[in-house]
Amino acid sequence: MYYPEDIVEEVRARNNIVDVVGEHVRLQKKGSTYFGLCPFHNEKTPSFSVSPGKQMFYCFGCGAGGNVYSFLMQYENATFQEAIKTLADRAGIKLPEIEMTEDMKRAASEKQVLLDINKEAAKYFYYALRNPAGKNGYEYFKGRKLSDETMKAWGLGYSNVNPDDLVKYLRSKGYSDEMIIKAGLASHDEKRGTHDKFWNRVMFPIQDTNHRVIGFGGRVMGDGEPKYLNSPETPIFDKSRNLYGLNFARSSKKNHMILCEGYMDVIAMHQAGFNEAVASLGTAFTSGQAAILKRFTDSIVLSYDSDGAGTKAALRAIGILRENGMSGRVLDLKPYKDPDEFIKNMGPEEFQKRIENARNSFFFEIDILKREYNTDDPEEKTKFHREIARKLCTFSDDVERNNYLEAICREYMIDPASMRKLVSATVNQTGLATPIKPKPKTGEVKRSTPEDGIKKAQRILLTWLTEEPKVYERISEYISARDFTDGLYAKVADRVIEGIRSGNLIPAAIVSEFEDEEEQKEVAGMFNTKISGLDGMPLENESDIDRAHALKDVVIKVKESSYDYYSRNLSSDVKALDEVIKGKKLLEKLKNTTFSI
Ligand code: CTP
Ligand code: MN
Repeated sequence: MYYPEDIVEEVRARNNIVDVVGEHVRLQKKGSTYFGLCPFHNEKTPSFSVSPGKQMFYCFGCGAGGNVYSFLMQYENATFQEAIKTLADRAGIKLPEIEMTEDMKRAASEKQVLLDINKEAAKYFYYALRNPAGKNGYEYFKGRKLSDETMKAWGLGYSNVNPDDLVKYLRSKGYSDEMIIKAGLASHDEKRGTHDKFWNRVMFPIQDTNHRVIGFGGRVMGDGEPKYLNSPETPIFDKSRNLYGLNFARSSKKNHMILCEGYMDVIAMHQAGFNEAVASLGTAFTSGQAAILKRFTDSIVLSYDSDGAGTKAALRAIGILRENGMSGRVLDLKPYKDPDEFIKNMGPEEFQKRIENARNSFFFEIDILKREYNTDDPEEKTKFHREIARKLCTFSDDVERNNYLEAICREYMIDPASMRKLVSATVNQTGLATPIKPKPKTGEVKRSTPEDGIKKAQRILLTWLTEEPKVYERISEYISARDFTDGLYAKVADRVIEGIRSGNLIPAAIVSEFEDEEEQKEVAGMFNTKISGLDGMPLENESDIDRAHALKDVVIKVKESSYDYYSRNLSSDVKALDEVIKGKKLLEKLKNTTFSI
């Protein structure tokens, strides 16, 4: 963290999280908490909460959470430095010049320089397209039916026929050859010196979700190889974590997103009103990209080319979506190759119909599978049915599996009873009671482990302490930060206890101490667990006696697991013996004590 802690805390304290979140999410007050639809996953009933008291947000559906910094970082895909700048501005606080180590300065300024270079290059290409010398490029886009408005919105450009024009221009702006090359815009060799990478192409600037240019795709005008040339990966351009068009699609009001393969496809769809379209970046769709899309929606319409390669890519993408707990549907664009051609020929209304009729990804997979079998041949037909049974086994939910079974049988005219038999036989054969990969649902249904139970108890205790700090008096004799045996939990527990002792416990300030988004989420979870007994029974309306019982159970659970932990680590942890001896005594005492609240 570059800024002194007190500044970080002042900026945080002067930005009420309810107001900041309220600028992006419609919130409604219920009791002491505000609720709204979670901006990080798709939902119909609000499970996203903002607590003015804690100055934190937490989604009970997807687990997103944190303080006002985490919110901006997650919502705007921003770094901590960007978030603090925004919030300081908002509160009218002037940030001090930051003191950075040499390494930090180099990394930060290198990224900034690369962003600056890309921005300059984008401007350069943009003006070139609108110059008489860029006529070819302009005509090319016109020929592909893009309006001036569309060209402007997407910042489309042109790289001219001279071999080193851009390099010269960037040098004149003061950038070194080294950085121009690092930005992926030039190469160097003995013969030609430093020369432009993009040459005589129409240019598509690639932007991140904050509309910053992070790379380019360049297309030949007409035939030629390669058809598209893309910027290489650089410190600011990670192809597996960005999607073309997401800077616009993120504000689409549709409840799905369309995922396709091409820059032109995305642009053609947006121009036709389908502003929910995005594309991967000249590489295969990745799990990282799925995770990013999941912030906006669980429902993806795949629009891949209808040829063999496109089908294969679609099948892969379906698998990735499924692993991420998302559902895919597949567009049929026949007889056209891709969305761009389809829309040009059939128009937006027809495209809309195709979206509505997009095929459920499971059916799509079975359709593809069927092509491998000649179902007129009884033997092959049996194999095909076995394969369907195997695939049906991948649904862990009985109801869901049965629904699919019935639908598939109806469509392929298979007798459901015999398919059921086949499915049971498959289960018995392979022992797949719960199948190959249980389908994760939104909000995650993982089988819980003993470890989860321990952490749950620790989270209940931490939330309890933050909501009712006086409870600490009851348990301070038994519990210390060392009882929270996971590193992150121990750190948080330490800060909570310290806060209670000094009478200055601010959970949202504790969150700021963690820079990593995932850590912030986990810490937010520790402060936003429903206070309950170990059995999950909520305690809000229970008597103090019952609450005290529940508290005692939770404390015993935390203490017992810490005792187990240190017993297991006697050889590797020098202080463990101490904890074990003390722990045993305390546990006995604890069990014989009556708690009061
Ligand atoms: N692509 C690439 N390099 C290539 C070919 C394709 O990076 N040599 C990427 C580009 O992102 C392109 C996408 O793959 O947008 C899809 O390629 P393709 O289907 O061949 O092209 P279209 O998107 O249909 O492009 P166009 O309509 O301009 O022919
Ligand atoms: Mn195309």
